[in-house]
Amino acid sequence: MKRILVVLAAACVSLGAWSQTADYRIIPLPKSVATDTTQVFNLKSGMGIAYDASDPEMARNAQFLRGWIEELTGMQLQMTPDDKKAAIRLTLGLPTDKKAKKAKKNVPLTEQQQEAYAITVDKNGIALQGRKHVGLFRAAQTLRKTLPVVGTAANGIDFPFTKIVDEPRFEYRGVMLDCARHFFAVDVLKKYIDVAALHGCNQLHWHLTEDQGWRFEVKALPELAKKGSVREQTVVGHNTEVYDGQRYGGYYTQEQCREIVNYAAERYINVIPEIDLPGHMMGALHVFPNLGCTGGPYPVWPQWGISRDVLCPGNPETMTFLKTVVGELCDVFPSKYIHIGGDECPKDRWKTCAKCQAKIKELGIKDDGKHSLEAQLQTWVNHEMEAFLRDRGRDMIGWDEVLEGGLTEHGIVMSWRGINGGIEAAKQHHRVIMTPTDYCYIDYYQLKNQWGQPLGIGGYLPVSKVYSFEPLIPDQLTEEEQQYILGPQVNLWTEYVAYPQHVFYMLLPRLDAISEVQWCRSDQKDFEDFKTRLPHMKQIYNRIGVNYCSGVE
Ligand code: ACM
Ligand code: ZN
Repeated sequence: MKRILVVLAAACVSLGAWSQTADYRIIPLPKSVATDTTQVFNLKSGMGIAYDASDPEMARNAQFLRGWIEELTGMQLQMTPDDKKAAIRLTLGLPTDKKAKKAKKNVPLTEQQQEAYAITVDKNGIALQGRKHVGLFRAAQTLRKTLPVVGTAANGIDFPFTKIVDEPRFEYRGVMLDCARHFFAVDVLKKYIDVAALHGCNQLHWHLTEDQGWRFEVKALPELAKKGSVREQTVVGHNTEVYDGQRYGGYYTQEQCREIVNYAAERYINVIPEIDLPGHMMGALHVFPNLGCTGGPYPVWPQWGISRDVLCPGNPETMTFLKTVVGELCDVFPSKYIHIGGDECPKDRWKTCAKCQAKIKELGIKDDGKHSLEAQLQTWVNHEMEAFLRDRGRDMIGWDEVLEGGLTEHGIVMSWRGINGGIEAAKQHHRVIMTPTDYCYIDYYQLKNQWGQPLGIGGYLPVSKVYSFEPLIPDQLTEEEQQYILGPQVNLWTEYVAYPQHVFYMLLPRLDAISEVQWCRSDQKDFEDFKTRLPHMKQIYNRIGVNYCSGVE
């Protein structure tokens, strides 16, 4: 018995003496990783993180890294600015840049090149180099994901010697959240941003207004968010005609929006706000019924679907309203992209509205054999908004319906009803964001067995299908046309997603899959290999306290 105890004790001591090892097989997979597993650098609690003390942005990124290391491994590192011998060292500039400078190549950097970074592990420690600060942030995120998730790494973490060189494939790597069907608190959005940043995303598309609620404060129109954000009740299930009898509301003050913008910016994520116009406007029509063709009254919609009541573009007050709203939107959101929606705008009311028909005449809109008069009227609205945005130095994004009445000159198309809108726009040399339902609608179920999942909108979009998406559509677009594809995005609509736990369940791990579509070259992608890297991400999710779907199909 005594002997057994001695052996057990010895085993425990030796187990405790084992150090844990970092694993560079992360998600999304870096562009190049060259590892020598025969040699390691052992990172231990108490060692230092060095950065340029005179550079607050670098200091912030160093602090992020310190926090992440502690969160996952329990190890506490010291902030040791300007210590050239520190175990972890952050610096700006890549070795290749010096060569390029010598060769006097002054070609402007692409967005992706600006995000480039390198990580070198050798006997001196771990060197993180970013071409810009954003690259250092990406490097820190990569290092974070290589860490084993342990209680306490009493004997440190072994980092095999390596050289990682990385930059993203697409300049636009988006994730969308609908905060209008259901409202999510600022803290939930911050968590969503954290998770997006963990996956290398750089765009948060924030869907702020809907038939079921207006969620953006407009100071010039104080009643708009106050009243337009509240629906008297919500339909139960899939438009069952049974209602829950519960008032539901919530909106974001401009101060909160700025807080989100700043929080995201510190994580190198741009926030693209969307005011969906001229359809999906029951929230606003409830407050301003004069802006609808029939004059109302209109409820903030308690059900799901597409409302036939939309804004009346024949009423000059409508354009004044839109410019007031979008003007304040531009004041709050510095994003170069502003989303004006444009989807699912039925034309029934416009066809029978005297004001809309008079406007069609006044504008000289004619039957062009391709687009209906009313579709062209919507294009006129888009034109007005595009000009308004361009005056403020912004680019307009619209859902692919903006192609229907003829695309405006500079509009960016978000292709959602499949890829054809995106293909058409790219062929016309318009920029495109690819979000086709078949690959990117993460409000769909992700497992075949629907009964084991919370009620959803329907559909079936497993992780493997998201992973298989190729946004450049090489069999239909020439290399020149492919240049117009800015990148892919996943969309989370929330008719059936009311709680934060459910938000992250829908998001993860499908965000992991899209992150490889967004980040990796297509020849790097391998779903079987990806699946072997997922369990580690799930350990991270457990540690940082975000929900996910454990099944992967
Ligand atoms: C959309 O899904 N209606 C853009
Ligand atoms: Zn009208």
